[in-house]
Amino acid sequence: EKGGWSSFMAKEVAEQPEAVANTIRGRVRDGAVVIPELDGLDELFIGINRVIITACGTASYAALVGKYAIEQWARVATDVELAHEFRYRDPVIGDDTLVISISQSGETMDTLMAVKYARERGARTLSICNTQGATIPRESDAVVYTHAGPEVAVASTKAFSAQITALLLLGLHMGRVRSTLTDTTAVEELSTLPEKIAQVLAEENEHVSQLAGWMADTRSVLFLGRHVGYPIALEGALKLKEISYIHAEGFAAGELKHGPIALIEPGQPVFVIVPSPRHSALIHSKVVSNIQEIRARGARVIVVAEEGDAAVLPFADEVIRIPLAGAMFEPVLAVVPLQIFAMALATAKGLDVDQPRNLAKSVTVE
Ligand code: F6R
Repeated sequence: EKGGWSSFMAKEVAEQPEAVANTIRGRVRDGAVVIPELDGLDELFIGINRVIITACGTASYAALVGKYAIEQWARVATDVELAHEFRYRDPVIGDDTLVISISQSGETMDTLMAVKYARERGARTLSICNTQGATIPRESDAVVYTHAGPEVAVASTKAFSAQITALLLLGLHMGRVRSTLTDTTAVEELSTLPEKIAQVLAEENEHVSQLAGWMADTRSVLFLGRHVGYPIALEGALKLKEISYIHAEGFAAGELKHGPIALIEPGQPVFVIVPSPRHSALIHSKVVSNIQEIRARGARVIVVAEEGDAAVLPFADEVIRIPLAGAMFEPVLAVVPLQIFAMALATAKGLDVDQPRNLAKSVTVE
């Protein structure tokens, strides 16, 4: 079943262009995003004043990207809540709230209980799921499926990029329904995403794998990101923890001076996800100055930056390139080298990347 691949994870990382293309297919019509499963369900999105996205683990990082997209395109306040935290307090929700859940398996007990709880409280519910007919979509008012295909490796990869894609589609769909979407460039850009992922895979696989090989003895790796790069920093750190058992942490780059910079000592590897200067010169310059701050303290800086961004060159030990893309699309590209890095590092340590210790693919207990 692995085909010629060394692991399911390697196969699933490589399948991402297809996973994303399949998730987009049939959902763009006449220059607009129209998700057929949501036909006749416009009332889910009108008259709400709040969206809560709930999920666990990797799916919760996809949710964080979704927050930016839904707020920008559908102009509705959106928050992300870990499913197991959401349920055990007394959240202020009601029929003006849309609770979106995200789950690859559709069976994660924490997420399922959050959905049931939201429904009992009168909220509207929509799930994003990769498994047809799973329990979470059955318990929701509506479902948008990701079409990543079966994910076998415990560490989630193609399901994550498909989840972000589904959230972008949903944000564009909601923006159209709510008449808040003015910019159509994002809709046009959707179809280019699969080939850009393929480009990252083709151009960076060897470079990043080599880098991981050199770093097999590393004991800790930090990841920094800002804006939609922040959830990618969290995801890069989680992948590394899960399959290579190395201490890793992701931070919002702006938090650095509020504490984490104390961790920086000579030789500390730090990945920095650099947002394109074309989207915001300000955000870009802030991240570049974060890079300068950690470099001055001896960090080994590995940047993930768009092609042609020369501002990072003087301060980077390694530069990983991603193609030019819209701000909301960059996360799907930036995560790919981090997945490859985690996988190559685990492989260099002789670990089983598909079956990490202590973890199960689907967590069906609370
Ligand atoms: C990370 C990973 C887990 C899952 C989490 C949610 O690689 O696999 O963090 O993302 O357990 O699982 P689902 O999406 O099935 O609800």
